[in-house]
Amino acid sequence: MLSDTEMQVAQALRQAKRVTVLTGAGISAESGLPTFRDPLTGYWSKFRPADLATPVAFRRDPELVWRWYCERRSAARAAKPNAGHLAITKLQSIVPDVTIVTQNVDGLHQAAGSTGVIELHGSIHSIRCFDRDHAMDLNQEDDSPDRHPACPQCGSLARPGVVWFGEMLPDEALARSIAAASACDVMLVVGTSGIVQPAASLGSRALTHGAFVAVVNPDPRSVMPGGLFLEGPAGTVLPGILEAAWPDSK
Ligand code: OAD
Repeated sequence: MLSDTEMQVAQALRQAKRVTVLTGAGISAESGLPTFRDPLTGYWSKFRPADLATPVAFRRDPELVWRWYCERRSAARAAKPNAGHLAITKLQSIVPDVTIVTQNVDGLHQAAGSTGVIELHGSIHSIRCFDRDHAMDLNQEDDSPDRHPACPQCGSLARPGVVWFGEMLPDEALARSIAAASACDVMLVVGTSGIVQPAASLGSRALTHGAFVAVVNPDPRSVMPGGLFLEGPAGTVLPGILEAAWPDSK
């Protein structure tokens, strides 16, 4: 039995022509990948971002940073998309224009079959060189915490293809995300604490532009002023809303 709020979101989705879905680490939690800010299991409850996710950290201890991202890459590769990712893919197959903007680097939206995913914080499955940003191939033999490859063009060490604190987001990804937030009829904000900018402001941008905004999160502290709040895990809430919006679609 769905709540009134869930029914309102289902109705808004049914009438929408353009939907934007903004996701964060919480969408992948049910695939077994840790979030960042869970007080017990989140990465940032165990490590300091300043030690692992900044250019300064890499300069200070490249092997430590490389090792951490290799471990995360192999966890992401082993993980399977969950019911939340799959519901978003299904939404893309029903509504004419659905843009997925993710802060995640794990590739699970794509593994679920979603297309055109905007990766605001890059991808853990790509690497480039630290000094000059030369694109590098991630060969199977290099994909190891014990082997840190160097750039064949300039000799600089490889770094993960993600955005670190203190770095600019990729221009095109950011511009497309802002456009998608500004032009949608409905925005779903799923599994993000809404702390890290500029992703965090995409929901309020959508609201300002008149979109219907709904937040999906098990933690009520994630309520966004002006948006509706759907309390619960993405893997339950999203399939429930889709089922209510389109009961005949399988
Ligand atoms: P956070 O760890 O900050 O937030 C994850 C959110 O997911 C929290 O609000 C949880 O309550 C929620 N959550 C947990 N389980 C969920 C579930 N099953 N379904 C739905 N929601 C769930 O992660 P992000 O907001 O993604 O950046 O963090 C943003 C950025 O901060 C990351 O991209 C990363 C991090 O530092 C960099 O590393 C640059």
